[in-house]
Amino acid sequence: MRFSDHSSILPVFGFLAATAIFATEPVEEVRRAIVVEDEVVQQVLTPELEALPRVLPEKVQMTYTRCEVPGSVIAVTFDDGPHPEFTPRLLDTLKERNIKATFFMVGRNAAAFPQIVKRMVEEGHEVANHTWAHPLLTGYSGDGVASQLKRAHDAIEKAGGVAPILYRPPYGGVRLGQRRSIQEQFGYPTILWDLDPLDWQSPRSVQKVHDRVLAGTKPGSIVLLHDIHETTVNAMPATLDVLIERGFKMVTVTQLLQLEAQHAPKVATVPPVEVEAPEGLENPVGVVEGEAVPGVAEMPE
Ligand code: NI
Repeated sequence: MRFSDHSSILPVFGFLAATAIFATEPVEEVRRAIVVEDEVVQQVLTPELEALPRVLPEKVQMTYTRCEVPGSVIAVTFDDGPHPEFTPRLLDTLKERNIKATFFMVGRNAAAFPQIVKRMVEEGHEVANHTWAHPLLTGYSGDGVASQLKRAHDAIEKAGGVAPILYRPPYGGVRLGQRRSIQEQFGYPTILWDLDPLDWQSPRSVQKVHDRVLAGTKPGSIVLLHDIHETTVNAMPATLDVLIERGFKMVTVTQLLQLEAQHAPKVATVPPVEVEAPEGLENPVGVVEGEAVPGVAEMPE
């Protein structure tokens, strides 16, 4: 079902969106959240971590997949939203635990659900750019890439009142020259990830997301998740509780970059090798240019 077919019944698009997503989920999917303790334990950050600036460090790299940091500090990231139902539920989970996450948003979803973007900002999360319509950028011209990022940048800033300073290419697909131009034009470093629990893959399961995140998270990790999947959002309470229990401290991606920069060795080291981003690793069922974003109504041009 395409939402463009239903543009005349906009007041119910949220409902339709949710229905469409449920209808496409495989029946064997395990969606039920893992039972967590009644008493939610909040993460407590050290004053140093609390004070990490939310601006890019002076010496910023072109690409990050993880950071070299002292201690078990990580960044948890959520892509492709906001989703009208699942993202607010995730925000409740994060708020209860005093966790600040980073949301790489699809611009037209941000434009469709500005109140959710506003809530993210108010609750201390980082809002970041994941292009306007989630295309694979590798085949795009310079102008095409710039337009995808600019439109999303403006939509996120308009909705949340804060301009994004990071982006992540859909599917992790971007060419070296494109990354260079993006950093020149927008100031954005390219943020990839070192842990992908494949939470988009069917059959989706809360338990799989939980187990894979806990098995793979390391100090300095940038964890890739998707707030458009109910299984992921339902996996978070129990998963985050174990991460807190294990002593992981969760900050935003920009804060993780700052922490790395603050603790960088003073002597010159070998610069990081620039490699081509892996392709097709992230969410292959994601949105293709020209198609409706799952869970989101078509926006008027
Ligand atoms: Ni994505």
